[in-house]
Amino acid sequence: MKIVFATNNKNKLTEIRKILEPQLEIVSLSDIGCEADIPETADTLEGNALLKARYIADQYHLACFADDTGLEVEALNGAPGVHSARFDDTTDHDSEANMRKLLHELNGKDNRRARFRTVIAFIPASHDTDSDSSPLLFEGMINGLIAREKHGIGGFGYDPIFIPNGYDKTFAELGTDIKNRISHRALAVRKLADHLLHHFH
Ligand code: IMP
Repeated sequence: MKIVFATNNKNKLTEIRKILEPQLEIVSLSDIGCEADIPETADTLEGNALLKARYIADQYHLACFADDTGLEVEALNGAPGVHSARFDDTTDHDSEANMRKLLHELNGKDNRRARFRTVIAFIPASHDTDSDSSPLLFEGMINGLIAREKHGIGGFGYDPIFIPNGYDKTFAELGTDIKNRISHRALAVRKLADHLLHHFH
């Protein structure tokens, strides 16, 4: 069975194909010829994941899933959350600027608790189920602390300042092998994989 992952991010595709293939074939947006700028205008991770998956399901009538991730910082009441990619809104997807802003806002604060949260929305193609094509949501979370300064050069986004609980190094120092085993995204992907391999294989 073929399932669209509403992304063109190579790392995410590789990660999920490792889990789901060969039982399921995962295709990207470019594989199905979709060049649209899919709206991500919701104010929650759930809302954005659903918007993206619904767009593909409606336009292409294929089974589809989409993800959205945010870093939720306790002392900032859950910010940057759904706005993680553009926390520094004077720049566009600039990780260095986003981290600078976050460290600045936490300056002098002792509560450094934070978590990464990923939500995946899956919409089955209508002919794959007896019922309708209602969406399913899968969530993955990892708790940790925001470091006082950047450490490490691996990974992307906020990795140099996020220290997962149980470790004394940032995601950027731990490297992709460890990160991909314990991360928010890996947990959400595994829940999706359990569902898909159970229901569609
Ligand atoms: P997306 O929904 O996967 O595009 O993630 C939104 C934003 O959250 C990204 O632009 C990154 O800034 C941040 N982010 C998501 N996942 C990670 C991660 O695993 N490490 C660090 N930052 C991340």
